[in-house]
Amino acid sequence: MSDQTSPYETLERIETRLKHMLRMGVRYLDAEAEALQRLRRPIYATQTQTPASAAARPSTRPAAAAQTSAPQQPASLPPVQLPPMPDDREQAMRQVIELVAQCERCPLHATRKNTVPGAGSLEAELVFVGEAPGRDEDIQGVPFVGAAGDLLTKMIAAMGYTREQVFICNICKCRPPGNRDPQPDEIEQCEPYLKRQLQILKPKVIVALGRCAAQTLLQSRTPISRLRGKWHEYEGVPFMPTFHPAYLLRDATQKRLCWEDLKEVMRKLGKPVP
Ligand code: URA
Repeated sequence: MSDQTSPYETLERIETRLKHMLRMGVRYLDAEAEALQRLRRPIYATQTQTPASAAARPSTRPAAAAQTSAPQQPASLPPVQLPPMPDDREQAMRQVIELVAQCERCPLHATRKNTVPGAGSLEAELVFVGEAPGRDEDIQGVPFVGAAGDLLTKMIAAMGYTREQVFICNICKCRPPGNRDPQPDEIEQCEPYLKRQLQILKPKVIVALGRCAAQTLLQSRTPISRLRGKWHEYEGVPFMPTFHPAYLLRDATQKRLCWEDLKEVMRKLGKPVP
């Protein structure tokens, strides 16, 4: 394999080769300990690519795959293993931002302009988790800056905070093309970054915005209308699902219920409730 081969391609080739051998009846393999060790090394450790616009980034997909008429599904990888977390909060969050910027573990990396790791205070007691960046967020690399973001900013203000005092992020750190829902494998690949962010922030409360965030944190298929307004727990942190601001822009009649949920959060945080 040439030096140009990305770790992602290497894994795909290994998988294809192993499947072929399996079909040929091979059931056991001799492997050197060093080779197994190399395979265990997380993919980010060998990535050197820095974030760049999708247009400027050379494709790391195999040329053959690009030429076939049927779109090839990338082999799904095991969830990313993150390196040890630095003790210093700022360093730890910077590490997450860099890992996300280099991440190519799901197809969303190929179409993103920017990764959108999250923004806000490292001292935040309150974390908002949305679904995935949209067009505006992809362009700016900042979560919730479009129309839904304006409404979220108002919701945060009504709770007595500024955007700078809370932390805002998403389940998926890259934009799904055309704003489609993130796929289960994309969510699975991205969730370790969110988990690490929450380990760093140690918030008192999480607010999950919308179906995708709530169902992912709960590993549930229950509709958001039944999850919202009740306390749940994620990684030991109380979390309140509520409606996504983009949904509230489409159906303003649900704003009242969302406000009830946010008041519940304020009570939990000891904030004065109007
Ligand atoms: N919708 C989301 O879920 N997240 C964003 O960052 C923007 C819109």
